[in-house]
Amino acid sequence: MKHNRIKDLLKQESITQPQVNIKGWVKTARHSKEFSFLDISDGSCFHDMQVVASESLENYKSEISKLKTGCSVSIHGTLVESPGKEQKYEIQASKIEVVGWVDDDYPLQKKRHSFEFLRTIAHLRGRTNTLGAMLRVRNAAARAIHNFFQEKGFIYLHAPIITASDCEGAGQMFRVSVLDPKNPPLTENGNVDFSKDFFGKQSFLTVSGQLEGETAALALSNIYTFGPTFRAENSNTARHVAEFWMIEPEMAFCDIFGNMDMAEEFLKYIAKSVWQACPDDLQFFQKMLYPDLFKNLEGIIQEPFARITYTEAIDILLKSQKTFEYPIAWGKDMQSEHERFLTEECFKKPVIVTDYPKDIKAFYMYLNDDNKTVRGMDVLVPKTGEVIGGSQREDRIDVLKKRMEEMHLSQEAYWWYLDLRRYGSVPHAGFGMGFERFILFITGIQNIREAIPFPRVPGYAEF
Ligand code: 4AD
Ligand code: MG
Repeated sequence: MKHNRIKDLLKQESITQPQVNIKGWVKTARHSKEFSFLDISDGSCFHDMQVVASESLENYKSEISKLKTGCSVSIHGTLVESPGKEQKYEIQASKIEVVGWVDDDYPLQKKRHSFEFLRTIAHLRGRTNTLGAMLRVRNAAARAIHNFFQEKGFIYLHAPIITASDCEGAGQMFRVSVLDPKNPPLTENGNVDFSKDFFGKQSFLTVSGQLEGETAALALSNIYTFGPTFRAENSNTARHVAEFWMIEPEMAFCDIFGNMDMAEEFLKYIAKSVWQACPDDLQFFQKMLYPDLFKNLEGIIQEPFARITYTEAIDILLKSQKTFEYPIAWGKDMQSEHERFLTEECFKKPVIVTDYPKDIKAFYMYLNDDNKTVRGMDVLVPKTGEVIGGSQREDRIDVLKKRMEEMHLSQEAYWWYLDLRRYGSVPHAGFGMGFERFILFITGIQNIREAIPFPRVPGYAEF
């Protein structure tokens, strides 16, 4: 790439190479008789580059004075200190080539557009301040996540996307099939005969890479996955999408306490890294969306997280005298309002809740001696609620089999998962962080549909 990135030009302490060439899109254009002021974005950083073009340029009348929002341009010129307060440097153009004009119906204009509207033009919304900043933050977070685990010697595992096992046992899987829906092959008793399907049995898009992650942890000790996961839950909320990215570390010779320590260190590390990598983007989010953003981030980075059991959490909620939309009692799953009360009002920082009733958690969680609770853990953060879910895994084969029976899971289907408990079983633990939930937390974005480039939600899979 021979041209300059706007980010590199703007971050310079002083101007070393005044002759520059930038390529990007016009954010705004103001024209007068003698001058045009153009704000150019190339997406490399939050800020635009201001360009001043004088009417002495050869194509001023024919082209430059007609530039408007959305046009793509290549600009040669001299980088100088800007007399304006808004920006440090600007470019005095010596040559402007129009690379692409915009049709009159270009939907992005200088005024503010609603997020709902921008979702309908998701192919263009990366050019707006908010979505552009979100995409850069996603990139910085992904990089920090890999760095964190790689520095610790964790092995990156590529878990399969198509699978026959329902990790969470919640029956929220998307079917993968090549059978003709109009005329599927049938068994003798009239059911669809999936033995004739592509994989010779029913198969689905994965809800989690955990089970396969466990097989790798019992070979390589410490692993992590980072890939897409899918859930066919029909919940139209601001925190659920049908396709999301999940990070799932799995650690052999590790219990619930080691797991909590790892989750806390992990969140602190990536929050700090994103803050360092994208200060301007986060500043924008703090100004436009969430005034408490930096206060929250400082809290997460500097203070130890609170740690309480589910039973303690229920006690706190019952004693709080608050009226919740969904009344809470021991044995019930916490709703978002309960989680947010604990982390935002009660502790005012991230909270790790452990030892949930076994009946509201998945089959693979380690059963406590009380026979009622399991060693599961959720990490709750202000604003977003649950960002991480994890557990110590049941590594005792007899206990695991009994739990599977109670939950009507076929031991045959999970034969390989049970094998791990027969061949050199060890205590092990892990967790999953929803990548988009983390993006909500670190940006203050309200709706998860703005935290992923192309959201998939009930009734909508455009683009
Ligand atoms: O709590 P969950 O269901 O846990 C698991 O899948 C475990 N197998 C993880 C493990 O122990 N390896 O999901 C993990 C996280 C949640 O805490 C949440 O952040 C996110 O995934 N998540 C979703 N994010 C967006 N949309 C959805 N529909 C989500 N469902 C879960
Ligand atoms: Mg969960």
